[in-house]
Amino acid sequence: MSVHISANKGDIAKVVLQPGDPLRAQYIAENFLENVRLVSKTRNIFYFTGEYKGKTISVGASGMGCASIGIYSYELFTEYDVDTIIRIGTCGAYNTDLKLFDILNVENAASESTYAKYAWEIEGDLLSHQGKVFDMINETAAAQSIITKNTNIHTSDIFYRKAPGTPAVAEKYNCSAVEMEAFALFANAQHLGKNAATILTVSDIIPTREEISANERERALKPMIELALETAIKL
Ligand code: HPA
Repeated sequence: MSVHISANKGDIAKVVLQPGDPLRAQYIAENFLENVRLVSKTRNIFYFTGEYKGKTISVGASGMGCASIGIYSYELFTEYDVDTIIRIGTCGAYNTDLKLFDILNVENAASESTYAKYAWEIEGDLLSHQGKVFDMINETAAAQSIITKNTNIHTSDIFYRKAPGTPAVAEKYNCSAVEMEAFALFANAQHLGKNAATILTVSDIIPTREEISANERERALKPMIELALETAIKL
């Protein structure tokens, strides 16, 4: 038991796939894992542990934003001895160079967030993926003929805002897309010496307002889920 996760110690695998949404965690558990157990449902943030091709893997939600993923990833790393977290999420593209369904492997997350500074005294507004898992995702993608783009993204605390256009920190670091969690995940992993990666599927193109419809989402996310699982079995 940790403050926000009610699983017993040992009930969570060394590798965790972390979508934002608890129902997506449930979908992955029910459709991709075998011998699945629900190990925590505190606050309806579900965690499941099961097997993928014989490897024990956990999947559980981060919730939305740096504050939420900051809590869950910290407790997984420190209370459950998790070695690697692969965030699997969606993002909005800042320009039309990216297309709906594109899969991004996040190289660096740029953010205005104060999370890294005030949690761990990590200065700066750009944090890298941590450890070897980023490279393993690229190798796995190549082996499976899944096209991924290595890219910088913007981790924003803000979903709705007054000013249209790309925020300054995203321009500064050439961020092609925005999401809300990677920066805090990378900060925790950097501070704790753990492995962390973020894979994102482009779910909306901000300037044109194109988006993947609600009933296309399951099909849209399948390649990213399989990429994360196929990487996880090598860890
Ligand atoms: N903004 C922030 N996070 C997101 C978006 C967005 O437009 N789309 C998917 N995640």
